[in-house]
Amino acid sequence: MKKTILTILILALAAVCGKARPLIIPEPANYTAGKGSFTIPATIGVAGENKVVSSAMKYLDRNGFNTKKSSSDKAVIKVAIKPELEPEHYQLTVDDKGITLAAGDNAALMYGLESFAQLATSGNGTIEACSIDDKPRFGYRGLMLDVVRYFIEPQEIERIIDVAAKLKLNNLHLHLCDDNGWRLEIKKYPRLTEVGAWRVDRPEMFPGRLNARSADEKATVGGFYTQKEMRQLVKYAAERNINIIPEIEMPAHSIAAIASYPELACPVVDKFVGVFPGIGGKDASIILCAGKEHTFTFIENVLDEVMKIFPSPTIHLGGDEANKRIWQQCPLCNKRIEEEHLADHEALQGYLMDRVIRYVNSRGRKAMGWDEVTYGKPKEDIIVYGWQGDGSVAVNDSRATGRKFIMTPARSTYLIRYQGPQWFEPFTYFGNITLRDVYNFEPMTSDWDNALRSNLLGIQGSLWSEFCNSPSDVQYQIFPRLMAIADVAWRPEGRSNWGAFLKALDAFCPTLDKLGITYARSMYNLDHNVRGNGKELKVNVSCIRPDVDVRYSVDNQALDKAWSDTLRLNKAATIYAATFKGDKQMGKTLKLSLDFNKATSHSVSGNCTNGLTRVLTNGLRGSDRNSDFEWAGWWNETAEFVLDMGEVVPVNKVTLGSLVHSDICIAAPTHIYVYTSDDGKSFTLRRTIDTPAENIYHKQAKIFDIDCSFNADTRYIKFVAVNPGCVPDGYAREGAPTWMYFDEITVN
Ligand code: ACM
Ligand code: ZN
Repeated sequence: MKKTILTILILALAAVCGKARPLIIPEPANYTAGKGSFTIPATIGVAGENKVVSSAMKYLDRNGFNTKKSSSDKAVIKVAIKPELEPEHYQLTVDDKGITLAAGDNAALMYGLESFAQLATSGNGTIEACSIDDKPRFGYRGLMLDVVRYFIEPQEIERIIDVAAKLKLNNLHLHLCDDNGWRLEIKKYPRLTEVGAWRVDRPEMFPGRLNARSADEKATVGGFYTQKEMRQLVKYAAERNINIIPEIEMPAHSIAAIASYPELACPVVDKFVGVFPGIGGKDASIILCAGKEHTFTFIENVLDEVMKIFPSPTIHLGGDEANKRIWQQCPLCNKRIEEEHLADHEALQGYLMDRVIRYVNSRGRKAMGWDEVTYGKPKEDIIVYGWQGDGSVAVNDSRATGRKFIMTPARSTYLIRYQGPQWFEPFTYFGNITLRDVYNFEPMTSDWDNALRSNLLGIQGSLWSEFCNSPSDVQYQIFPRLMAIADVAWRPEGRSNWGAFLKALDAFCPTLDKLGITYARSMYNLDHNVRGNGKELKVNVSCIRPDVDVRYSVDNQALDKAWSDTLRLNKAATIYAATFKGDKQMGKTLKLSLDFNKATSHSVSGNCTNGLTRVLTNGLRGSDRNSDFEWAGWWNETAEFVLDMGEVVPVNKVTLGSLVHSDICIAAPTHIYVYTSDDGKSFTLRRTIDTPAENIYHKQAKIFDIDCSFNADTRYIKFVAVNPGCVPDGYAREGAPTWMYFDEITVN
């Protein structure tokens, strides 16, 4: 009761101070609640200058309102463009007589109308009186779509643009070509789409798809945009105030171009190269030859057509992940290095980028590139996208050179990553970036000076589509995290209220439903944490939404108990748990099947790359995702770990749970040595287990138990597992160092 009164007081205070968050995404910079409300009539009369009125009516009609032109005295909304306001700046006032909107430019007009539309939708046609004075924190607010790994049909891009526009994003970056496909018609080079847009069909998941061996293998999967389709898309986006930035990748990630025109590769490449269905193995180091003039002619001709289609003031030139292995072998590239007095092969990339940047500049456009473009120290100006890790490559480069940059760090804004507890998510790469992680993303740190701050143009969410197989897969990865991206890009620095954001998100979701957009509900799913303390297992669950209750049951699925504190277990049990709002189950049911054997809950010490040795005895098995926090991982090293069961006990069966997934560099140990000890100091070898060669690698994920059994009384068991080395030829990741993963030691 006390809590309720306090909550009311806080809300009332926030409203009086104008700080309550309205149900608008992104959060407006300034919102002040007024007195009264306005109920919107069935037809909205719009008044103002003719051009502004027709623009406003178009926006409102598109968003499901009925409008008519009106005189000022009868208007529901009065609209005006006011030159004294900055671009993208709008002021919206709602009182009991109607709505007034003043905007700095046409974009701001749309933003004001969108805020109005969101208030009207969430209020079921009635808007509480308020005044909003709003403009974005960043001028660049973007989304990248990788249309290569999964070809997204134009109408599906339009559907995403519809939402992006409502979120007040203003740039759509299209990754148009890569190793896995060329997606834009180029009239001068028809083979780019006759050949380069198509890859062979392989049943495996992305990384495991092996390359085509010859041109005789039919390439049937892919697609491309005709220039006409792309022009329509550019126009569609522009009408919604979104600029489409085309990305033409170079010099690496260019296999689709090389498959179409093999002469673009260095002459040392004399084998068949087809469009990659997966990551390409060692062939991924094949790149455009920087020694041939023909390569530059090709790039310039392609860019000529690209710049005719896209009016974007900036053109993205890629530049990432360029392995220099082939350039090192290429006589033409080495000759170029000598003739141009370049320091090395990295500088050769700088040379290539500089030439292309100058070309783009000569046509009145600015160049953009991924943060590795800075490695070659280009002399020309380029806007850098900070993607690696936390984006610090771009930050450090800007500190040193003053270059402008955009933050799209893999660790915070890569929408390919898992957005919730991994057991409930479709398979993808890497770790987790939850909705809350995105919402909490702050691109600047306290040590940035003013110059650096002003060089940051904005932020972007980036969707790599390796694991997408349908439009709804794409939407699922993007939404609702794009709402959080938009909020970070727009809201004033330092502003953060997770609970209030969720309310605005909930109010926005019916609009997604209406637009036929699939979105994840991962924010309702439960994370778990199971730890042993030598006697028992302590089980905790958590959810990123603070506004849900958790219910659970043990050994049955009733979900009839309220979860209030850590559950403690000293015997095997199956726990079921889920989040609820009232009686409505909100998240998926979490099932924790907990074993309890002689090892369970006891401590394990040892070297471990991912620091998760504790999960080896928590009674819980991992899933087929090595990154689900239930697998202890060792990278490129021998694993050595010791179980301490606390006292000497009789042992006759020991197993070690293991995961192999060679498509993502996970292999089984070649040998495991098992030792025992009573004092933890002197150990006796009890078993040597040799993995048959054919079991060390397995393309897709395979979980299996390695039998390490012996008969002896012991307190300590030491395991030494020998890493098999690099992935052999013939696998998708050939030549890469390997991980070994174990999830559970079982002792009986
Ligand atoms: C990238 O993720 N390689 C830009
Ligand atoms: Zn070359």
